[in-house]
Amino acid sequence: MLDVGCGAMGLLRPLSEWVGRDGTVVGTDVDERLLAAAASFLDREGLQNVTVVEDDLFASGLEPGSFDLVHARFQLAPLGRAEEQVDAYSRLLRPGGWLVLEEPDSSSWRFNPPAEAAERLIALVLEAFAAAGGDFDAGRRLPALLRARGLEPALDAHVVALPAGHPYLRLPLQFAASLEQRLLALVSAGELEELRARAEQELADGGRWAISFTLVQSYGQVPHA
Ligand SMILES: C[S@@+](CC[C@H](N)C(=O)[O-])C[C@H]1O[C@@H](n2cnc3c(N)ncnc32)[C@H](O)[C@@H]1O
Repeated sequence: MLDVGCGAMGLLRPLSEWVGRDGTVVGTDVDERLLAAAASFLDREGLQNVTVVEDDLFASGLEPGSFDLVHARFQLAPLGRAEEQVDAYSRLLRPGGWLVLEEPDSSSWRFNPPAEAAERLIALVLEAFAAAGGDFDAGRRLPALLRARGLEPALDAHVVALPAGHPYLRLPLQFAASLEQRLLALVSAGELEELRARAEQELADGGRWAISFTLVQSYGQVPHA
């Protein structure tokens, strides 16, 4: 099995448990530091049936038709080129293999009571993804992408309730920090600073809770030869 763009951990542990002792899992990424972190994680956890390799998903050096399952999470949303990605993943699968894609859909991501500044940050994050060629709402496109490649898509979706104190409540602020340079192409430094300060205040309100973005999962089997 393959976890594309596994980063420091990705789905390596569940895939390792899934294939069991006699199976093998490969994790790929282009970021050497993340691959080193993944290798340490595997070492610490004793996950001996998993290896990580440097591989660019858009120019993969992996053997075509060599995997029973290819999994990719949060790759279409940040990197875009969705059709190209799905074609690349399909090529790596054996006849009868499974393609499993997981991507977000922002439409459920709301605060109760509404949090104007935090929700404005979310809107800016979505704009920043689009400006970089990605699509934060790539989850909505998954079934159509699979169907266009002859895979009959199964579909699942999950949201998480985020009560006061839940770490994911702060995701708009975390995205605002990690995408700061991209957001500064959309709003002034002063406006961004003010939004962050107001969002901090909104999230300090112990009565406020949220629903996460939706994680859409779609999967299908490539035809048998
Ligand atoms: C948003 S992270 C998702 C990480 C992981 N899939 C997860 O769900 O936890 C995107 C990952 O894709 C990797 N990446 C970016 N460009 C890539 C490429 N061309 N080929 C393979 N991986 C890539 C990044 O280094 C990063 O680890």
